[in-house]
Amino acid sequence: MRRITARSVTTPLFTSKTASLAGSARPLFGIVSAADKVVPKDGLVTVEVYRWSADEKEKPYIQSYKLDVNNCAPMVLDALLKIKNEQDPTLSFRRSCREGICGSCAMNIDGTNTLACLKPVAESVTNGKIKIYPLPHLPVVRDLVPDLSNFYEQHKSIQPYLQVDDHAALGSSKTEQLQTREDRKKLDGLYECILCACCSTSCPSYWWAGNENKYLGPAILLQAYRWIADSRDQHTNQRLRALAKEDMKVYACHTIMNCTKVCPKGLNPALAVAKVKKATLELDVQQKKQALAH
Ligand code: SF4
Ligand code: SF4
Ligand code: FES
Repeated sequence: MRRITARSVTTPLFTSKTASLAGSARPLFGIVSAADKVVPKDGLVTVEVYRWSADEKEKPYIQSYKLDVNNCAPMVLDALLKIKNEQDPTLSFRRSCREGICGSCAMNIDGTNTLACLKPVAESVTNGKIKIYPLPHLPVVRDLVPDLSNFYEQHKSIQPYLQVDDHAALGSSKTEQLQTREDRKKLDGLYECILCACCSTSCPSYWWAGNENKYLGPAILLQAYRWIADSRDQHTNQRLRALAKEDMKVYACHTIMNCTKVCPKGLNPALAVAKVKKATLELDVQQKKQALAH
């Protein structure tokens, strides 16, 4: 498997359109102007795609395809499917729902992590080109397919399911765990996460610390907070203690905010990370007070 790092590709790896690495034709810290973002009148666009396969034993390379976007459905996923169907069946990428629900088609388009099925071609063209890379800083299985094994292991580690020991305390049966409308509302902005990994792979802290299974990253911490915030869950303190056990799991976040900027579902993972930090600190203070009182 090949790992994408800042050195192995010459593309903007930062999620901000205002920052780019060597090799990009764009100004280093310049703003891409509206004129640069226009689709050419003839509709002919060059789609540049990162390619790599372990079978070919070649270094990664960029392959260019010409595409008439006037003769193609509107999203970048449609463009990739058209290329795969009509020009190159070897091009590999993940997709399933094509409507922003499954999270499979997450990739780096025009310098930003996003979902190919929700990203319009018209917003992805810069100077007649669309540049497409896999999600940054993950090992690559093939072409635009990243290896998310570590990400899923991290998700498993936060025990992403309701944990109830005393059903009677909830005043409900074992099959139905009720909560008030107000408590249910606390899960808004959390339950919608589709685990696409756009946020985590845009986070510099996750780039450096996530893959050694240290920093959990914004997506997993948002998921962790989804269960911490659930009024029906009775393992809140155990969850917080598990997160606080190793500083790096939560505190490697430096509030850089890339995560919130890219989330294609409009969520705020940075806020969820801050709430996890606050909750672990509050539990710590509470435990210290209790220890002093004894
Ligand atoms: S706010 Fe935290 S989690 Fe989000 S990008 Fe920054 S360091 Fe990463
Ligand atoms: S918080 Fe947003 S970007 Fe992050 S995994 Fe969930 S849906 Fe994707
Ligand atoms: S194909 Fe499911 S989110 Fe894009």
